Amino acid sequence: MPQWRLDTAQQTLVMASTGAVPQVVYWGTPLPVSEDLAALALSQVSDLTGGMLDRLPDLSLCPLPGSDWQGQPGMTISEVDGRQITPRFQLERAEIAPDSLMLHSAADGLRLTHSFRAHATGVIAMTTTLHADRPVRLHWLAAPVLPIAALGTEMIDVAGKWLGEFQLQRQPWSVGARLRESRTGRSGQEHPPYALFPEPGCTNTAGTVRALHYAWSGGHRMVAEELPDGRRQVQFGHAWGSELEAATSFQSAELLAVVSDSGLNGIGRVFQRDMRDRVVTWPDPARPRPVHYNCWEAVYFDHDLATLSDIASRAASLGAERFVLDDGWFGRRDNDTSSLGDWTVDLRKWPQGLHPLIRHIHDLNMTFGLWVEPEMINANSDLYRAHPDWVLGRADQTTGRNQLVLNLGLQPVQDHLFGVLAALLREYPIDYLKWDHNRLLPVVDAAQNRGIYALMARLRAAHPLVELESCASGGGRIDAGILAHTHRVWLSDCLDPIERLRIQHDAALFLPSCLVGSHVGARRSHTTGRVQAMSLRAWVAATRHFGFEMDLRALDADEAQILGRVTAWWKSNRDWLMQAATLRLDSADPAVTAEMQLAEDGARFVLTAAQIEISRQILPKALRLTGLDPTAHYEIRLLNPEDAPPQSRARCALATGSLRLSGAALMAQGILLPVAWPATIWMIEGSVAQIV
Ligand code: GLA
Repeated sequence: MPQWRLDTAQQTLVMASTGAVPQVVYWGTPLPVSEDLAALALSQVSDLTGGMLDRLPDLSLCPLPGSDWQGQPGMTISEVDGRQITPRFQLERAEIAPDSLMLHSAADGLRLTHSFRAHATGVIAMTTTLHADRPVRLHWLAAPVLPIAALGTEMIDVAGKWLGEFQLQRQPWSVGARLRESRTGRSGQEHPPYALFPEPGCTNTAGTVRALHYAWSGGHRMVAEELPDGRRQVQFGHAWGSELEAATSFQSAELLAVVSDSGLNGIGRVFQRDMRDRVVTWPDPARPRPVHYNCWEAVYFDHDLATLSDIASRAASLGAERFVLDDGWFGRRDNDTSSLGDWTVDLRKWPQGLHPLIRHIHDLNMTFGLWVEPEMINANSDLYRAHPDWVLGRADQTTGRNQLVLNLGLQPVQDHLFGVLAALLREYPIDYLKWDHNRLLPVVDAAQNRGIYALMARLRAAHPLVELESCASGGGRIDAGILAHTHRVWLSDCLDPIERLRIQHDAALFLPSCLVGSHVGARRSHTTGRVQAMSLRAWVAATRHFGFEMDLRALDADEAQILGRVTAWWKSNRDWLMQAATLRLDSADPAVTAEMQLAEDGARFVLTAAQIEISRQILPKALRLTGLDPTAHYEIRLLNPEDAPPQSRARCALATGSLRLSGAALMAQGILLPVAWPATIWMIEGSVAQIV
């Protein structure tokens, strides 16, 4: 029985085969190099009892009915005439390299390849490929199927909505299958492709947990099944039926696997590092992330050179470094009913094109970014009138935000979009495109998603210095598939800092701060109607990729002063902040959400403790830090003592000065903060103290 293993610093994956498709016999925290893999594989062979077949079917990398599997199958294919294919694969060979492995199995003119790669970031990436000697129809193909250890009692997956992305939901394991499927043609707010499998006692800062992320933006399917025999399998693949054409080869997207024995933060750390250092390809990694100004919530579709020039001047004087002109600049786009597809400047609003605005922005030492939504088309557009046949889906489909979708599976559509976008990038000095995607698709179609990736890759190859942001009505397309082509995500359209903080905090399990756009919004939130203090709005944005998105003419003097100060703070800290790990704290008080940004070298951190609502108890509870060196000493101080409310009477130590404490004390016992009003935030800076 051959065995294979792959290791990163955080996990070991061991597979073995009895001659058929290999199965995972271990996936967990690292095993010693000396582990006897044959014994490990034998240790996983179960007994048999009544009410079963005479052999226990393998929970293989692709469990199939042809190999006696009676649970959810890892692949479903048929001949082009509709007859189901039920192969019984046999292992053919393994290709072994230091950090990668390919396992080839074959049957009935089909070849199934399971590929694995261990990355230095700590992630193991895996894919499944199917080749056939004749065209076949593929309904479902799982990336390598993994078992989940029996000790876990629950799974955590992610739901959400427009203005409310990244909602973690927990459910217990029980016999039967849990299905999560995004059939909206994008990874989506509703079913983003992430799942966590904690063992009992797992918290943010301690315990064992496994996690998976399917790197695909076109809609995925997850099946987490507990079998009557007690075993558990997890499958991830493209949404069911995504492959619309018969073909001779198919491939899953990469499934990214992480294991942690340091709680959910151990998962967050590896996914954050992997996204930042491997998945995203930065045009210029040395360039600091610029402070953004985005004009959407300031002017919406109402563009005018004088107003936007005035706002740009104000943005620059507050410290902005990139000005992004949002929706409304093209076609005759006065509202969201027309012009998507007509990517030429609206000369009614911009009689001399965008040049005067861009010149002004450049004079202010800012760069210029532009909003586009290339995949979309309005029926009321010149492009639609010229090419109604370019639309994806039925002619009588229901629109979404009044718009239709172009069929990116068609090469002429890709060529056309490349042409218009490249023309814009040639005509104007644009260093950034906010690439939006504002509707649910009428069909699930893998070719559409492949077309989008191809278009983005081609555009980036032609204009390598231009950065892209992935936006889809806020956070509707956030996954490692799109991030291989983009450099920032618009996490949510919700700028209300209380909800934004919640979304940021939960998304931190998967996303590094440098990729997550966060903007200071209007005093009265445009999406919740709540009024929030500038201090809260600004500090919440300053824990991610910082920017402003409001009518800056409406700032009062106090607000402008706070915003200027927080911006200056962010700029002087971003070199380490944008490389930091975001670590979630276990807060003893459910009214307080707290996290740390811990520098890569561990020498400094900033802790944010947000009082989301009024606490039940009278006084703040101690907040325990995490990730520090227990033997080091840290100097900690409150960055914003001026935010103390009048009811803070005794002035606890941090309200009046700094403290020097060991990492051990900070992590074992924690710190006491002053009392806080609801919807306020404490910012605490810490750095390793020099021993004198
Ligand atoms: C989407 C985005 C917003 C804004 C609008 C423009 O909703 O999420 O940020 O760009 O489109 O129409």
